[in-house]
Amino acid sequence: MRPIGIFDSGYGGLTILHGIRQLLPEYDYLYLGDNARAPYGSRSFDVVYEFTRQAVSRLFGMGCPLVILACNTASAKALRTIQQHDLPLMNGGQAQEATPTRRVLGIIRPTAEVIGSLTQSRHVGVLATEGTIKSGSYNMEICKLHPDITVTGVACPMWVPLVENNEADSPGADYFVKKRIDQLMRQDPLIDAVILGCTHYPLLMPKILKHMPSGVRIIPQGEYVAESLSDYLSRHADIAARCSKGASVRYLTTESPTRFSQQAQLFLHEQVHVENISI
Ligand code: DGL
Repeated sequence: MRPIGIFDSGYGGLTILHGIRQLLPEYDYLYLGDNARAPYGSRSFDVVYEFTRQAVSRLFGMGCPLVILACNTASAKALRTIQQHDLPLMNGGQAQEATPTRRVLGIIRPTAEVIGSLTQSRHVGVLATEGTIKSGSYNMEICKLHPDITVTGVACPMWVPLVENNEADSPGADYFVKKRIDQLMRQDPLIDAVILGCTHYPLLMPKILKHMPSGVRIIPQGEYVAESLSDYLSRHADIAARCSKGASVRYLTTESPTRFSQQAQLFLHEQVHVENISI
């Protein structure tokens, strides 16, 4: 089996996996959550890079020809270095282009690509982890593709812990969600589209909808990442042909499989079998 690897620091990537499976159900998937070391959002560049490199290497070792970093923090802090420095080595010491056996893709670029068609005011907000906001990755990617768009980012350090601790429906979630949305809209009242730049945030959607001013479009990533992957696979037939099509999903976590399985139900609304793995 040669599944598509989906990597996240924890559970958040399940929202991306869900979107991808809706559009591309025929492929095999191997999901890896590094729950033992999550959250990544407040960790340094070097640590996020090293953890992500280890995970990618593990997924390659398990037969994945293609790995999606279904985590904005990992995409922001590790993707470029892995693509430029590690992939040539992982692909046997030759240039990636010469040996396109294994590939790694992130989730920031697909979101940046689509945003141009989702804003009228050309003022866009990004809500994400501290690491993603500090990296400036969304600003850079969006400005490269759509120089007329003004991007304002706000870090939401409490949002991932709220989701991970099953507090997404609590009054505490109301407080922290409202606080960051108000902060964002104060910084740029012209914003008419807000990217949820963290894969955990769709789990806070009821609270986000409650506190977001009406008329502001909320943009979760799953659907757009899925469309981008589908497009990528149709443009890279050699890579698509290397990914097996058995319509299976296998879930791996670096923490407790029992806890992962319980939490995964919040994201997937189904019971899944989970295995422990060390990376
Ligand atoms: N899911 C990660 C992201 O999209 C954030 C979770 C974490 O902080 O580990 O940025």
